[in-house]
Amino acid sequence: MERSRFLLSITLLLLQYSSIVTGAAKTNITTDQSALLAMRSHITSDPHNILVNWSTSTSVCNWVGVTCGARHLRVVSLNLSYMVFTGTIPPHLGNLSFLVALSFNNNSFYGTLPHELSYLRRLKFISLGFNNFMGSIPSWFGSFPKLQRLDLYGNQFSGTVPSTIFNLSTLQDIDLGANKLSGAIPREIGNLTMLKGIYLDSNNFNEIPKEIGLLDQVEILYVSLNALKGPVPVAVFNMSSLTMLTLYGNSLSGGLLDNICTSS
Ligand SMILES: *[C@@H]1O[C@H](CO)[C@@H](O)[C@H](O)[C@H]1NC(C)=O
Ligand SMILES: *[C@@H]1O[C@H](CO)[C@@H](O)[C@H](O)[C@H]1NC(C)=O
Ligand SMILES: *[C@@H]1O[C@H](CO)[C@@H](O)[C@H](O)[C@H]1NC(C)=O
Ligand SMILES: *[C@@H]1O[C@H](CO)[C@@H](O)[C@H](O)[C@H]1NC(C)=O
Ligand SMILES: *[C@@H]1O[C@H](CO)[C@@H](O)[C@H](O)[C@H]1NC(C)=O
Ligand SMILES: *[C@@H]1O[C@H](CO)[C@@H](O)[C@H](O)[C@H]1NC(C)=O
Ligand SMILES: *[C@@H]1O[C@H](CO)[C@@H](O)[C@H](O)[C@H]1NC(C)=O
Ligand SMILES: *[C@@H]1O[C@H](CO)[C@@H](O)[C@H](O)[C@H]1NC(C)=O
Repeated sequence: MERSRFLLSITLLLLQYSSIVTGAAKTNITTDQSALLAMRSHITSDPHNILVNWSTSTSVCNWVGVTCGARHLRVVSLNLSYMVFTGTIPPHLGNLSFLVALSFNNNSFYGTLPHELSYLRRLKFISLGFNNFMGSIPSWFGSFPKLQRLDLYGNQFSGTVPSTIFNLSTLQDIDLGANKLSGAIPREIGNLTMLKGIYLDSNNFNEIPKEIGLLDQVEILYVSLNALKGPVPVAVFNMSSLTMLTLYGNSLSGGLLDNICTSS
């Protein structure tokens, strides 16, 4: 009697647990389709009629700009670059749980980025360059454990850079150029040891931290056209892989060090 009650409660527990598990895994290609239909309805101008192609009579995997993975048949890439779209990003995009690459370059997308994008744990590439996105860079950008490339070039992002984005330990390229960002570049940038390209030009940054000197993979560092003051920071001459450095358009004083080329 006691024993069967015990077994029953174990069984109930297991049932409850498995329904939680399947509940979490319940998304499928239909979820991806609803997310993309929400995206479509948030695009208010499509002068080349590209979205006529996004028809529910065929699988989303055949839609222009959409790529599905072979293994799960789920959307892995959404590339709407150079399509001359105007619109905003709906929160529903956060439901594309298999997404690896998001590319919206050179359109007229505007507004702020919905925090639901932080659910996209598989993202490796985020390219939103040359649009009109605004607001601060959200602190949830720190939540992409596999991110390799972050391109926000040529938008209206303002405020300081949240130090959480320096949680992105797999990042290789960070491009925040041509925005309205200000303040010091956070010293946590020294944590991103895989960085190869750092593009921070054409903003209002006023300080480069000495920790940048720790980054020995960086080949390109653009900090021109900012509000940097004082002597040229010594740390940059310590970056052993550096081949391209731009500093012009700041208020830096002093000449370049005599030993600038000793490490090459
Ligand atoms: C996706 O899941 C929903 C319910 O969770 C179901 O109604 C639908 O048929 C599924 N779609 C596919 C293509 O399996
Ligand atoms: C959309 O375009 C793709 C690629 O050009 C094509 O394979 C597909 O058949 C088109 N779908 C529709 C509904 O026009
Ligand atoms: C996205 O599409 C554009 C234009 O078709 C292409 O040039 C670019 O390489 C694509 N990007 C990715 C990441 O596939
Ligand atoms: C997708 O996301 C939206 C908004 O974030 C939400 O309302 C919707 O219920 C989500 N789930 C599915 C399966 O579409
Ligand atoms: C992207 O947009 C920028 C700004 O409008 C422009 O300078 C650049 O040439 C565009 N790039 C391409 C490949 O169209
Ligand atoms: C930092 O990254 C870890 C591991 O990917 C993650 O668990 C954590 O939530 C991230 N922190 C922030 C502030 O994004
Ligand atoms: C950077 O690294 C230091 C030391 O390893 C650690 O304490 C700090 O939390 C890291 N910062 C971020 C934003 O990940
Ligand atoms: C330059 O690098 C060396 C060794 O890699 C380190 O000991 C030193 O503190 C660095 N100097 C600066 C200014 O970053």
